[in-house]
Amino acid sequence: MNTKTTRITQSQVDEQLSYCARIQAIWMERGITPKAYVETYGCQQNEADSERIRGMLSDAGYAICNEAEGADVVIMNTCAIREHAEQRVFGNLGALTHTKRRHPGQKIFLCGCMAGQEQVVERIRKSYPHVDGVFSTHHLWQFPSLLYQVLTTQKRVFSTVDEPGSIAEGLPVVRSNNLKGWVSIMYGCNNFCTYCIVPYVRGRERSRMPEDILAECKALIAAGCKEITLLGQNVNSYGKDLNANVDFSDLLAQIAQLDGEFLIRFMTSHPRDAGKKLFDTMAAYPKIAKQLHLPFQSGSSRVLKAMNRHYDREKYLELVNYAKSVMPDLVLTSDVIVGFPGETEEEFEETLTLIRQVRYDALFTFIFSPREGTPAAEMEDPTPREEKNARFDRLCSLQNSISEEMHKAYVGKHMRVLIDGVDGEQLTARTEGGRLVRLTGDEQLIGTYATVTITGSNTWSLIGALDKE
Ligand code: SAH
Ligand code: SF4
Ligand code: F3S
Repeated sequence: MNTKTTRITQSQVDEQLSYCARIQAIWMERGITPKAYVETYGCQQNEADSERIRGMLSDAGYAICNEAEGADVVIMNTCAIREHAEQRVFGNLGALTHTKRRHPGQKIFLCGCMAGQEQVVERIRKSYPHVDGVFSTHHLWQFPSLLYQVLTTQKRVFSTVDEPGSIAEGLPVVRSNNLKGWVSIMYGCNNFCTYCIVPYVRGRERSRMPEDILAECKALIAAGCKEITLLGQNVNSYGKDLNANVDFSDLLAQIAQLDGEFLIRFMTSHPRDAGKKLFDTMAAYPKIAKQLHLPFQSGSSRVLKAMNRHYDREKYLELVNYAKSVMPDLVLTSDVIVGFPGETEEEFEETLTLIRQVRYDALFTFIFSPREGTPAAEMEDPTPREEKNARFDRLCSLQNSISEEMHKAYVGKHMRVLIDGVDGEQLTARTEGGRLVRLTGDEQLIGTYATVTITGSNTWSLIGALDKE
């Protein structure tokens, strides 16, 4: 694995944009407006990458459409985090043979985290001949030249060599939501949790320059964006690779001092690097949402050590207690893995007791999935699948009952929410802590803040009524 960082120069980016112009010229000559479909799997990081891919496609003259059928180019931006995620991609990729048969000019690309795994690339090369191009996350910025190559040579391209992790500024972007913007502040991960594939497929941690991040935030706010979510696999280690003398808390504070009515969220925080300075900064600025996603993964210190997480149960609880003490209304969410190799019944119960103690607003729960090339995939794993499933069910029912109780406690409260969309007959809104509220009201309110009284609740959402002005 190459551990260096390359900052892509402006002229390299300009060269890619010149390929966009050339692609546009090809289609103009044919008198056709081509269509492009981008399908995204996985996390927000991938969503943000897909927005860049749509930006480059749009610059190349493509209209962005919502299905593969009839599209001139299809991009599958993939996730490798669990086996199930990969199986879905292979299934959907297979189905594209039919859309391509009906529209023979269709060009199909696979990118994202699966494209960072050699065995996946080999499988595509051999068994999925209808795929025209594969490129890993390091090569995302070169997509216009890859597309141009495929269109003009009709040959397959594979851009998956292990290069230094790149940072490219100034790529075009088509955002999928005007109210909520993703801003990647860093890429890659250095942590090598023993179960996780991310460091292998996304390379080492590398931070964008603070001035580039601030400029992107300012532009979003000027365009009417109300929520900015800062993205990174471990945002707390932001800046460690820069000579800029700025850490994540400093960056948050700088963004929080920008003019405008907006909220800042961020994910993900690794408990290893989160600390008092971060929580004090969150508490100090009204524009930083009092919401924290702090994955604990397991309640057992023995398992945490085997996971290479670099904190134990006590350190985690200390962090949470401090965060709650400086932010009494903090909304806390987390990720947890059930059935890590060798997890005993007692160790699993430590996970349950931690959940009871912390009382998360919501949890993202996963069953351990062995990933080829990671240390945990080689560990002895004597627990049968049925036992893991049973643990998973116990965990989910505990969390559901906690979520339900936590939501009930909102009833009767007045809360400021951002009205962000419609779902069926109702408007949807989010509290500062990110909880979903459903309410009745005029669609014209979308994009505005309002105060609501919470009138009801269930496991997944709150029900609200608009307060009279
Ligand atoms: N960088 C983030 C997590 C990104 S992956 C962090 O460190 O918190 C999102 C979640 O997927 C992880 O928090 C973990 O709970 C889960 N996950 C990762 N690899 C997994 C695997 N091999 N099996 C099951 N769950 C996994
Ligand atoms: Fe994976 Fe751990 Fe990095 Fe998160 S911090 S992306 S879980 S290796
Ligand atoms: Fe999946 Fe890659 Fe994100 S593996 S979870 S898309 S970083």
